[in-house]
Amino acid sequence: MNYNELDISPVVIDYFASNRKHFSDLSSCNEYLEKMSGIKTFFINEEQLNQLIEFVAEKNYIVSEPNRREYGDFQTNTELSLKSVDYIKNNSSFDSFEFVLEPTCGKGSFIIASLREISNIKKIIGIEIYEPYIWETKFKILELFIKNLNLSKPSIEIIHDNVFDFDFEKLSKETKSLKTLVVGNPPWVTNSELSSIDSKNLPKKSNFKKHNGYDAITGKGNFDIGEYISLLMLKHFSSHIGCFGFLVKNSVVKTLIFDQKNNKFPIGSVKKLTIDAKKEFNVSVDACLFYSEFNKQPSMICNDLDFYSLKDNRVFGWVGNNFVNSVIDYKQANDIDGKCQFVWRQGIKHDCSKVMEIEKHNGHYINGLNQEFTIENDLVYGLLKSSDLKHTETNRYRKLTIVTQKKIGQETNYIKHSYPQTFEYLDKNREYFDKRKSSIYKGKPSFSIFGVGDYSFMPYKVAISGMYKRTLFTLITPDDSKPLMLDDTCYFIGFQEKRFAQIALYLLNHYHTQQFLKAIVFPDSKRSITKDVLMRIDLVKLYNLFDYSSVVDDIDISLNDWNEFESKINPKTEMKQMTLF
Ligand SMILES: C[S@@+](CC[C@H](N)C(=O)[O-])C[C@H]1O[C@@H](n2cnc3c(N)ncnc32)[C@H](O)[C@@H]1O
Repeated sequence: MNYNELDISPVVIDYFASNRKHFSDLSSCNEYLEKMSGIKTFFINEEQLNQLIEFVAEKNYIVSEPNRREYGDFQTNTELSLKSVDYIKNNSSFDSFEFVLEPTCGKGSFIIASLREISNIKKIIGIEIYEPYIWETKFKILELFIKNLNLSKPSIEIIHDNVFDFDFEKLSKETKSLKTLVVGNPPWVTNSELSSIDSKNLPKKSNFKKHNGYDAITGKGNFDIGEYISLLMLKHFSSHIGCFGFLVKNSVVKTLIFDQKNNKFPIGSVKKLTIDAKKEFNVSVDACLFYSEFNKQPSMICNDLDFYSLKDNRVFGWVGNNFVNSVIDYKQANDIDGKCQFVWRQGIKHDCSKVMEIEKHNGHYINGLNQEFTIENDLVYGLLKSSDLKHTETNRYRKLTIVTQKKIGQETNYIKHSYPQTFEYLDKNREYFDKRKSSIYKGKPSFSIFGVGDYSFMPYKVAISGMYKRTLFTLITPDDSKPLMLDDTCYFIGFQEKRFAQIALYLLNHYHTQQFLKAIVFPDSKRSITKDVLMRIDLVKLYNLFDYSSVVDDIDISLNDWNEFESKINPKTEMKQMTLF
């Protein structure tokens, strides 16, 4: 062991220097250190002891930190581990624990915090794969006891092992009768990140997520190592009396609660306490303390709080068969959960913005390649993007686009004859279309676009951005008589008549619909507003929550408009909703 690589405090070095007489042989040294610190078998062999004595004599310590990416290595600072253990102690039904397990203990931050915050622990087990950290942990424990002679000393084992090989089943049986705290901060790394650096730091055999170990390792199932270790702990210890407290990514907690439907681990009082990972670990990751109590009725929901202020944000999880972002909002607004009578469409996709997104300047056009040109106006339409959908109504656009097809797959030869200037412009830039990588363009007519159909040419549209967290709907009205297009970051439904679009807009922006969206949309997802989400808004159920007298003050429509809207959306009525699309 090279002790020079460790961050051993001067207090510990002085302790070894001044107690050298007790360290003449391995067994008396270990006995002496166990009395001092509770740690069993501090040194495993004479060589380790002798190297330490030499090191102390030289009083020479330099810390060097190798690259430990594959170990998801983010050591918890003292304050955060103390605050976490403190939270667990104060919020659980226990004020003390007899057994503390830290399965990937690193430099021992949580072990020290437990020793400082919890009295009368009988047994502590820490496991860590990286040997220098084992030593740092042991020395820190020793330092703690040197400085606090009266602290009660549990039996402590700091084990150099791989968490994936450790026999937790045996440990669980041995400790079944002890009030248990499983605490720590497992590695922050996913299996696919590990495979990208060719790391073997993965479970060898596992039916984790119904993938076998090989599939998991080859990346078929992408999972977080922290999630795997959390499940390992819950599998072996959740039937103990006790608590669980792990620092993990928010995404891990979401998956754990999602999987509770099948796993049904006996955990209750489940909480996700959001931490500031930038401040605590200097990483831009959404992370939290995941807290739960063992040996309870399996909880399907999780309370989301701020770790520092304990401000309550929401409760998320399962309501019946629905996994929702906000249980309270869902219970209040689930009466509109169903199937939308209209099909929500995504806007136009062309993957050729330099050529297809143009601006108008003094009677001519200019494109993203700075080419100035003149083309017929017929195929040119105003284009709205997510960032243009900031208000409840608009017909203002910054860009225009060329709509080469009326429906997907339509031949585009007609452009050459009907719109020769447009064709010349497109043909001149053909290479940009040919360079499009997506396979959807393979074998399709020249200058093909997607997300186009009759619905694109509806004059009135009610649209929403798929890129932002906000759930505001915008009424799009035509530019003169020409409909405006949306790009593929937006979703919309189209209407022939403004009065119907106005009613749809009113209903969709109503507090009740907004509450429903807040309930079902997870804002931390990459794209929170999706077609699936929008298709769940049942317009008939929504419409039926209102009557004309309750809306007339807010929208400028007649009773006839209101009643006709019903016949447009309600499939039971004679009139077909097809007239809308
Ligand atoms: C996020 S760090 C946290 C360390 C410590 N729990 C803390 O709170 O400071 C994760 C730790 O897991 C260790 N580790 C990674 N893979 C491991 C494995 N397979 N077995 C045991 N420990 C592992 C790393 O070396 C690192 O110390």
